[in-house]
Amino acid sequence: MARTYLIRTFGCQMNEHDSERIAGLLESDGMEATDDLESADVVVLNTCCIRENADNKLYGHLGHLKSLKDRNPGLQIAVAGCLAQKDREMIQQRAPHADVVFGTHNVASAVTLLDRARAEGPVMEILEESEAFPSALPARRDVPWAAWVTIQIGCDNACAFCIVPSVRGREISRAPGEVVAEVERLATAGTIEVTLLGQNVNSYGRDITRRGPLFSSLLRSVGAVDGIRRVRWTSPHPKDLRPETIDAMAEVPAVCEHLHLPLQSGSDRILAAMHRGYTAERYLQKLASARASVPDLAVTTDIIVGFPGETDDDFAATLEVVAEAGYDSAYTFLYSPRTGTEAATRTADFVAPEVVAERFDRLKVVVERSALARHQARIGRVEEVVVEGSSRKDASVLTGRTRQNKLLHFPSAPLGAGTFATVRVTGAAPHHLRGELVAVTARPRHRSRIPVSAAE
Ligand code: SAH
Ligand code: SF4
Ligand code: F3S
Repeated sequence: MARTYLIRTFGCQMNEHDSERIAGLLESDGMEATDDLESADVVVLNTCCIRENADNKLYGHLGHLKSLKDRNPGLQIAVAGCLAQKDREMIQQRAPHADVVFGTHNVASAVTLLDRARAEGPVMEILEESEAFPSALPARRDVPWAAWVTIQIGCDNACAFCIVPSVRGREISRAPGEVVAEVERLATAGTIEVTLLGQNVNSYGRDITRRGPLFSSLLRSVGAVDGIRRVRWTSPHPKDLRPETIDAMAEVPAVCEHLHLPLQSGSDRILAAMHRGYTAERYLQKLASARASVPDLAVTTDIIVGFPGETDDDFAATLEVVAEAGYDSAYTFLYSPRTGTEAATRTADFVAPEVVAERFDRLKVVVERSALARHQARIGRVEEVVVEGSSRKDASVLTGRTRQNKLLHFPSAPLGAGTFATVRVTGAAPHHLRGELVAVTARPRHRSRIPVSAAE
C-alpha cells in the first residue's frame, strides 16, 4: 500500500504553490495524498510568519500533532516554509517531535530529508538562497483549470514592517521563455486560467535586463498562449506599476480586469516611514490612470492599521484615500511587529491595542460600504464566470468566479468545474454577488485531474 501524506498550508499564494511542489515531489516518490490526519504517514506544515498570529497558529498545530504522534510513532512531521526559515532551531526546541524542518529554499530536498530523518532521526536544512529556480520542480495542482505560475521569487524592497525579504531572499526572476513554456504546457493539459506570482511582479526582469519593461511583455506573451482565457497576476508594488503594464492589461483580452494594488496607508508620513516609495496622491494618480485605460477595472488592496507612530490624523488620511479609491475589497491587517524588521524596533511609537482595534473596526465599515456599492453597481449586468463548484451551504447553488475575481452564486443544475457560463447579476453583498444563469458558453477542456508533471 502506498504511503500517504497530508499538507497543511498557512501562507500566501506563493506558499500554496510551494505546497503544490512539495506534493508533486512526494507523489513522484510514490506517495498518495490523504485527507485523513489520523492515518497519514507524513504531515507537512507549510508555514507563514507574516504576522504574529501566523506563528501562534503553527505552534498550536504542532502541539496538536504531538498527541497524534504519541499514538502513531511511525508518523513523520515536517515543518516547511517561512516560519521554518525564520525560527529554525526554535521549532526543534519547541517541538522536538518534528522530524524535519526545512526552509523556503529547500523545497527540492523534501523527499531526501524525510528519508534521512527515517534513518537518522530529526533533521533540519535551511539554505539562505535557492540553488535552482523552484519552478523546475514537479507540481501537483489540485484545480485542473487554473494554475499558479511563479515568475519571480524573493523581494528586494525594504518595507519597514515586512519580514518577507528576510525569509524569501533576494529577488530572482525566472526567464520569460521558461514562464511561457510552462504556461503552454499547462494550456495543452486544459488549463484556461493562470495567475503569475511574485512579491513585486512590477520589477520582474530587473535582474535579467535593464532594457525595457519585461513584465508587460510577459503579460502579452502569456496572454497570447493558445487556450489561456484568463491571466491574473499578483502582487504589484504601486511604486513600480508602469504605464506599459496598464497598456498590456487594457490591450490583451485574456488579462483580467482586476488590479490588486496594496496601499498600506493613506498618510504620506506613514508611507515614508514604511519606505513604500509613493505618496497617497501618486498612488491615486496611478489608480486613476489604470481605471481610465482599463474599463470595468476591479481594484483590491492591503491596508495595515496601527503602524508605529500612526496618529488619528494619519488614520483619517487612510480613511479618505480608501473612500476615494473605491475598492472592491480590501485585506485589512492589524500591525504586527516582526523581530528583525525596522518598524519592530520602534517600540516607543507602538500604538495602543485598543486604539488600533477601534481604528480597524472603523476601516472595515468604510471598506465594506465601498465594496457593497461597487457590487450593487453590477446588478443587471451579465458576467462571464468560470464555475468552481457548488456552494458549501446549498448544492443547488453553483459558485463561479468573474473576470474581476468576484464570487458569483447562482442556482443551476450541476455544471462541471471549469465550465464557462454567463450569469446575470441580481443581488449584491460586500463579499459576493448573486445571479441567474443565462447560458453555458464553454465546457471544461481539462482532464479530470492534471497529472503530476515535471515543469521541464
Ligand atoms: N509583496 C506584497 C505583500 C506581501 S505581504 C506587496 O508588497 O504588496 C501581504 C500583506 O501583508 C502586505 O501587503 C501587508 O499589508 C501585510 N503585512 C505585511 N507585514 C505585516 C505586518 N508586520 N503587520 C501587519 N500586516 C503586514
Ligand atoms: Fe514585503 Fe514590501 Fe516586499 Fe511586499 S514589497 S514583500 S510588503 S518588503
Ligand atoms: Fe507568504 Fe507568509 Fe511567507 S505571506 S511569503 S507565506 S511569510
